[in-house]
Amino acid sequence: MIYSTDGIKGGSGKSTIATNLAIILSQSSKDVLLVDADDQATASSFTGFRSKTKQGGIGYTSIQLAGKAVREQILRLKEKYDDIVIDVGGRDTTSQRAAMSVAGIFLVPFLPRSFDIWTLKSVVKIIEEMKIVNPTLKAYSFINRADFRGSDNKEVEDFLKEEKMLVFIDTPIGNRKAFSNAGSQGLGVTEVKPVDPKAVEEFHKLITYLTSI
Ligand SMILES: Nc1ncnc2c1ncn2[C@@H]1O[C@H](COP(=O)(O)OP(=O)(O)OP(=O)(O)O)[C@@H](O)[C@H]1O
Ligand SMILES: [Mg+2]
Repeated sequence: MIYSTDGIKGGSGKSTIATNLAIILSQSSKDVLLVDADDQATASSFTGFRSKTKQGGIGYTSIQLAGKAVREQILRLKEKYDDIVIDVGGRDTTSQRAAMSVAGIFLVPFLPRSFDIWTLKSVVKIIEEMKIVNPTLKAYSFINRADFRGSDNKEVEDFLKEEKMLVFIDTPIGNRKAFSNAGSQGLGVTEVKPVDPKAVEEFHKLITYLTSI
């Protein structure tokens, strides 16, 4: 499967989800390629750090691509890997469109904030356009950094559920320090110590959903 974490809002958790997804897929004996298609190079920096700190190897192959090379290279590489995870930047760029042209699963995290939700219509427009090029593209939304109290999650959930162009995955990921602690050490949330069982459980639920598509 080719997964792409996208969206047109910065900081929604695309790189966090992409790197954790690559790690967890590689832990189930899969040969995984992580493609960094963001010029901020978050996934590559994460992997660079991981290669210094992680005992026993990083677990996946990591490359950096930009523009139409994202499509061209992934088309060449897709038979060589079980899974490919593409991390793109939070803007409508050639790299993002190139990723969408080859992805099977387009995964859009949303923070439970109105500024983030307002981008939904623009994301839908891009998906509609890219489905002309890639009719098999399936788009999914989910809430990342969910609040632990208040009605924000529910409002965002109802809003996302109404949009049929993206299937809403009802497995929110809470705003949990384990994700940022893990990221800053080049580790996945399943690897970082101390273990946050709730963060691990939430992430596993999302992965179970994604891998059953
Ligand atoms: N569920 C979470 N709980 C706590 N912190 C999180 C969570 N998800 C992401 N973060 C933190 O939020 C920040 C932004 O996340 P990340 O870099 O993954 O976003 P992004 O969408 O890739 O951003 P960009 O648009 O800049 O590429 C990071 O510091 C990350 O550690
Ligand atoms: Mg990022």
